[in-house]
Amino acid sequence: MAFPTSRISPFQLLRKRLLISKLLPSQATCSLRPAFLLPDILPRTTSFTTTPFPKSQDQQPQYTLPPRPRRDLHGKVAIITGAGAPSSDLGNGRATALLLASDGASVVCVDKNLSLAQHTVSMISSQTLSSNPSVPPPPPPAAALAIEADVTREEDCIRIVGDTINRFGRVDILVNVVGIMGPSGTAVSLEDVEGWDWGMRVNVTSMMLMVRHVVPAMVRNGGDGDKIKGSIVNIGSVAGLRGGSPSLLYPASKGAVVNMTRAMAAHHGKEGVRVNCVCPGMLYTPMMYAAGMTDEMREARRKRSLLQTEGNAWDCASAVRFLAGDEARWITGAVLTVDAGATAAVSLSS
Ligand SMILES: NC(=O)c1ccc[n+]([C@@H]2O[C@H](COP(=O)([O-])OP(=O)(O)OC[C@H]3O[C@@H](n4cnc5c(N)ncnc54)[C@H](O)[C@@H]3O)[C@@H](O)[C@H]2O)c1
Repeated sequence: MAFPTSRISPFQLLRKRLLISKLLPSQATCSLRPAFLLPDILPRTTSFTTTPFPKSQDQQPQYTLPPRPRRDLHGKVAIITGAGAPSSDLGNGRATALLLASDGASVVCVDKNLSLAQHTVSMISSQTLSSNPSVPPPPPPAAALAIEADVTREEDCIRIVGDTINRFGRVDILVNVVGIMGPSGTAVSLEDVEGWDWGMRVNVTSMMLMVRHVVPAMVRNGGDGDKIKGSIVNIGSVAGLRGGSPSLLYPASKGAVVNMTRAMAAHHGKEGVRVNCVCPGMLYTPMMYAAGMTDEMREARRKRSLLQTEGNAWDCASAVRFLAGDEARWITGAVLTVDAGATAAVSLSS
């Protein structure tokens, strides 16, 4: 059988090809094969060509860039529990509400003490966000609402979600901040076992109750199959990652928050709801200094980290803002320590 454009038969071609394969086993079938071996042994009509000419630009496959993530939170609605703080102090909830609002979110500030939540709302509205008057205030947030509620009560959690939807039409972000130190004591010395149950209710059950009623609302946000429909951030503690706390309730409950976060992330990932945890170290917040903290204690806390820098509620809130927003769209089930490196090292002595 004649092959008009080839001077060798298919059989000869196969033999030569096998020979090349033996000589250059790794190159014989790839485009890196030396070009000088090709011209005199391959028929010009064969499709066996592995050294293609570079394609012109319009022949190159088009790569469409994925959408660039935005930190902006305009159009999003966030619920923050424990968003109050005494006077103009800065707790983790208030700082989170201020940062989410300054990025454009509508924020619902929940606290069992209404006046504390209202004060956070007034701080948002008056935009007294910067302690430095020379820094221009951020653009006004969409809106802020104070709700008096006790998140240990399921009916209050239902009302928080209902009021949020009535006012803003949706829920995109939940930040579970409420948490208490609870009773002191080890398993042996703990006297207040009822206080233990209450501490678990405040620190763990309240977060479950809020998630229980927020997730169905987030899922109703709709969108295409790939869309993230909601983001939840639970506030844990480094005490929930390591032993060493003098009492048992706080580390036990915060440890539960850490792994509850991972379990929730697994449960609700397919529904498009992300769940992450921020674990702060020893921040200087009202929860810590309200009961009295000497300068020596404050200094000792500062030194208990790699950076030896005092942390505050902005540090916690900044991590929450990142995890809550679309920049973290591919992050769920994560536990982010905000502790100046305290938990990264075995010893802090050097
Ligand atoms: N401050 C720290 O160093 C530190 C470190 C690690 C973790 N944390 C965690 O951060 C969270 C907040 O701490 P903080 O010191 O910023 O806040 P905080 O203790 O000052 O409390 C904030 C607000 O929560 C409200 N609240 C308490 N119980 C409530 C309830 N059942 N329902 C509704 N509101 C309630 C209070 O009225 C208060 O206004 C806690 O979960 C805490 O465990 C704090």
